[in-house]
Amino acid sequence: MAVNDDSAVVAKDPYAGKIVTIERFILDQQRIYPDATGTLTNILYDIALAAKIIASKTTRAGLTDILGSADKENVQGEVVQKLDEYADQILFKLNDHTGRLAVMASEERAEIIPIPDHFPVGPYVLLYDPLDGSSNIDVNVSVGTIFAIYRRKTASGRGTLEDCLQKGRDLVAAGYVIYGSSTMLVYSTGQGVHGFTLDPTIGEFFLSHPNIRIPEKPKFYSVNQGYEQFWSEGVQRYTEWLQGKDKTAKPLSMRYIGSLVADFHRNLLSGGVYYYPADTKDPGQTSGKLRLVYECAPMAFLAEQAGGKASTGTERILEMQPSALHQRVPFFVGNSLLVEKAQEFIRDFD
Ligand code: AHG
Ligand code: MN
Ligand code: MN
Repeated sequence: MAVNDDSAVVAKDPYAGKIVTIERFILDQQRIYPDATGTLTNILYDIALAAKIIASKTTRAGLTDILGSADKENVQGEVVQKLDEYADQILFKLNDHTGRLAVMASEERAEIIPIPDHFPVGPYVLLYDPLDGSSNIDVNVSVGTIFAIYRRKTASGRGTLEDCLQKGRDLVAAGYVIYGSSTMLVYSTGQGVHGFTLDPTIGEFFLSHPNIRIPEKPKFYSVNQGYEQFWSEGVQRYTEWLQGKDKTAKPLSMRYIGSLVADFHRNLLSGGVYYYPADTKDPGQTSGKLRLVYECAPMAFLAEQAGGKASTGTERILEMQPSALHQRVPFFVGNSLLVEKAQEFIRDFD
């Protein structure tokens, strides 16, 4: 092969050795679908833009102590918003007027977010957790944004709750942004999982992790083990199995950040399982902590696209029919074998 003749490599990976922006990549993906109108492409562009705007704030979060903190006035006499409210507003304002969406929903709002009457509606539905792991922001630990996109179910007019309560298996696209030591956007439209890293000096996301697959050999289990006493017997025994206590498997290392996005991201790249099981800690919240439509379903979609699995412990997450916008479910996600093992323990002991 002559110098610079990379045709063999290109056939295997068209992006090998190339500098690829997120815009170029999303546009290339759109070409796979001859009937695509570009509407979804534009929603994804806007989410990448929202990610840059939110990242520019989260990376300066410590400065709120100097420039003014939430609910207090800053030096300009403006009231500073909490970062999760700020992130919520950015996603809303970038998407309310574009004519691409029928309705939105956010973790930060009790009800669905209708598209204002003076703006046109479109064919898609956007659900999001604007800032995930937000309790970590004050201590400089990674946080994230999660998003889920569906096609609307209702035929016309403003979108409704029905459009927001769809099974995860009908997702058109899903992804997250992690605001960590670098900002990354990871997403899937059902053609594998792809990761992009932000170069903050020029404000561009570049393809850095094409075709992410969860490594077959897992390294980590991730759970808030402080609540172990509130778990079912099946979940307790499963955890002991992950620790190698029955000698049938090698112990895994434990890592837990307490930001779903960051815990999921680490296990996606390194292999492992994340779980937030049902517990009896809070009598009013016995179905686990994480929310189905804007936390579990999009992460489940990504996990399956990367060769993994996601379950409530008894059911595939992507098969769950949501019954309420903020419904919580037990969540097990990661390497297929580890998720299957959780189901086995829960079936046998609970
Ligand atoms: P959010 O900040 O969007 O409300 O989500 C917090 C969630 C999730 O990110 C994390 O995995 C979990 O809460 C941590 O809960 P514990 O502190 O109970 O472990
Ligand atoms: Mn969250
Ligand atoms: Mn949140």
